Amino acid sequence: MAKQYDVLFRLLLIGDSGVGKTCLLCRFTDNEFHSSHISTIGVDFKMKTIEVDGIKVRIQIWDTAGQERYQTITKQYYRRAQGIFLVYDISSERSYQHIMKWVSDVDEYAPEGVQKILIGNKADEEQKRQVGREQGQQKGRLVLQLAREYGMDFYETSACTNLNIKESFTRLTELVLQAHRKELDGLRVRASNQLALAELEEEEGKPEGPVNSSKTCWC
Ligand code: GTP
Repeated sequence: MAKQYDVLFRLLLIGDSGVGKTCLLCRFTDNEFHSSHISTIGVDFKMKTIEVDGIKVRIQIWDTAGQERYQTITKQYYRRAQGIFLVYDISSERSYQHIMKWVSDVDEYAPEGVQKILIGNKADEEQKRQVGREQGQQKGRLVLQLAREYGMDFYETSACTNLNIKESFTRLTELVLQAHRKELDGLRVRASNQLALAELEEEEGKPEGPVNSSKTCWC
């Protein structure tokens, strides 16, 4: 069977209940938006393949429940993540205040070197905004400063209007790829070696052996 992707890795969505994690995921994978809030129970995941810098990346995106009672379960999923979205709702100051708590959970449970992106979702709810983008804005919380402090890129998104969804998922994927550049270069060398070998075998008229379609998985 033809190889359909080059690498596989795992991203995680975390944040308070109701900030829109499931909606972000559904918008990204299925281009759908649901106005109802059905709380995630434990964890759920979806897959999508995207191409970044000519590399086909299969991403497994884990959507975690924001509700406190599932935290014991959800924290177990941090360990195998290469990238994490920390999501708050721009119309909920409380959800933004809790980002500190989510950051400290990541520090405690996720592997060192995990890539992080801060997401302020529901950017379409401008009239209900409680969290400003920058210092000096109305009720401004130092979002950009916080993102910088923790070494995170920052996006305001809207799962409702499809604002910055593809951009933020692509960016986190890029960051993970950059962080794993060495393994990736090794993969490329192996791939070109395999190609060279296959060409040689063809030239020599040998029967074609099974193509090693093993994927690189950093999960
Ligand atoms: P838990 O599973 O409980 O952790 O919640 P969640 O973070 O997955 O939230 P979910 O995606 O279920 O969305 C909660 C509510 O917010 C739903 O009513 C969504 O329709 C709404 N919502 C999500 N994203 C947006 C958005 O970008 N804009 C607006 N206006 N509403 C949104």
